[in-house]
Amino acid sequence: MTDRRTFIKEMGAMAGLLTLAPWLKSCSSPEAAYAGEKARVALIGCGSRGQYHLVLLQGMAEAEVVALCDDYQPNLQAASAFFPKARLYSDYRKLLEDPQVDGVIIATPLGLHARMTLDALDAGKHVFCEKAMALTLEQCREVYEASRNTSKSLYYCMQRMFDEKYIRGVQLIREGLIGDVVGMRCHWFRNADWRREVPSPELERRINWRLYKEYSAGLMTELACHQLEVCNWTLDRMPTEIIGLGDIVYWKDAREVYDSVNVTYRYSNGCKITYESLISNKFNGMEDQILGKKGTMDLTRGVYYLEEDHLVSGMRQLLDQIRDGVFAAVPAAGPSWRPELRAAYVPHPVIEGSVSVNAGQSMVAADNDGSDLVLKAFCRSCISGEKPQNIVEEAYCATLLCLLGNQAMEEQRLIRFPEEYKIPYMKF
Ligand SMILES: NC(=O)c1ccc[n+]([C@@H]2O[C@H](COP(=O)([O-])OP(=O)(O)OC[C@H]3O[C@@H](n4cnc5c(N)ncnc54)[C@H](O)[C@@H]3O)[C@@H](O)[C@H]2O)c1
Repeated sequence: MTDRRTFIKEMGAMAGLLTLAPWLKSCSSPEAAYAGEKARVALIGCGSRGQYHLVLLQGMAEAEVVALCDDYQPNLQAASAFFPKARLYSDYRKLLEDPQVDGVIIATPLGLHARMTLDALDAGKHVFCEKAMALTLEQCREVYEASRNTSKSLYYCMQRMFDEKYIRGVQLIREGLIGDVVGMRCHWFRNADWRREVPSPELERRINWRLYKEYSAGLMTELACHQLEVCNWTLDRMPTEIIGLGDIVYWKDAREVYDSVNVTYRYSNGCKITYESLISNKFNGMEDQILGKKGTMDLTRGVYYLEEDHLVSGMRQLLDQIRDGVFAAVPAAGPSWRPELRAAYVPHPVIEGSVSVNAGQSMVAADNDGSDLVLKAFCRSCISGEKPQNIVEEAYCATLLCLLGNQAMEEQRLIRFPEEYKIPYMKF
């Protein structure tokens, strides 16, 4: 099994890697190319995800955190404990005037992403923004146009694009390992209300922003965004039609966003993404499954399964069933009515040595999910001035699918991908 450092080193040598994932270019160049250089970065939004980024930045040679911003003092103070020398701001516009800041990391609620990104690019800063791109289709378009008209880098934190098991998994699919892709099944199940404790009632919307449409597009942008990006990346194309149903099934607590979503995305060849998310039952966990005629890629675990492991001839099936006493009388032909329960497939690891075969569980450490590499790539772009390829486009495509999914659920109708939001990057 390759360790993290080896993977980063090996990336440069992986055949076709930069065609498959061109955004990895700066991470795959030698450490020496950036030795001694530091990007002066600032964090806007020092909440849960922001502080996670600070932990990663503490161990990153290419980064110097020079400023922090939050308009909620408890979070700003908590963040300053990670970097006590960083300048503190409560107004992000003031931070953007700071000439010592090369790039900003935006980890605020979704409703603020577009405004803050546009302002930061205008102020001449490189930007790393949390997914999703924006709260509305119009804002996505505005950010996409701005990214084309700036010399600054714009990154989105869609870490699966930097996650070794996803990269190698998508590569194997593109090489034909699982045959033609005939469907995709993605789901994310949790059993928790998604609420955070609120110190006083007037802070409800600020702290629990995920539950309100002014700031959030709910499960689709918070969870599905990552998974829909992977589907588009795998197929290298976009769906043409979207239908869905969304409800508040269990958490009837004045929230505005759905706690249960089922959305189907259809590609022009008929292949579909079946997407489901529910936050009142977690039996099924989270999975990104790519279904091929010859096998199934479980990208979440970094394992694949081959149909050939279960290819049994009709005659063999019949003989086995007679032996097992399935029949009172032997039928003339054809398989039985035995329930087609899911068979136990042999898991094959995407990364050699990374899976305990019996359990079919990936042993890739959960904290190696690619988040550190997106940040590293961003810091390197701040230093080199080189814009990353295709990250904005991938974020635009994924975010549009999230928002169109919500539109389909809200309007309860089939949505065709709108012409006015197509960009040259998209293939249908
Ligand atoms: N990539 C991932 O896997 C991942 C995981 C978790 C969260 N996220 C994303 O990160 C973002 C933040 O999520 P979170 O869970 O950290 O939320 P959070 O509520 O914990 O943190 C948001 C922070 O932004 C601050 N903020 C709000 N308005 C502000 C303003 N005008 N100026 C400055 N600061 C402001 C809040 O005070 C808070 O500290 C969201 O977009 C979320 O989708 C991404």
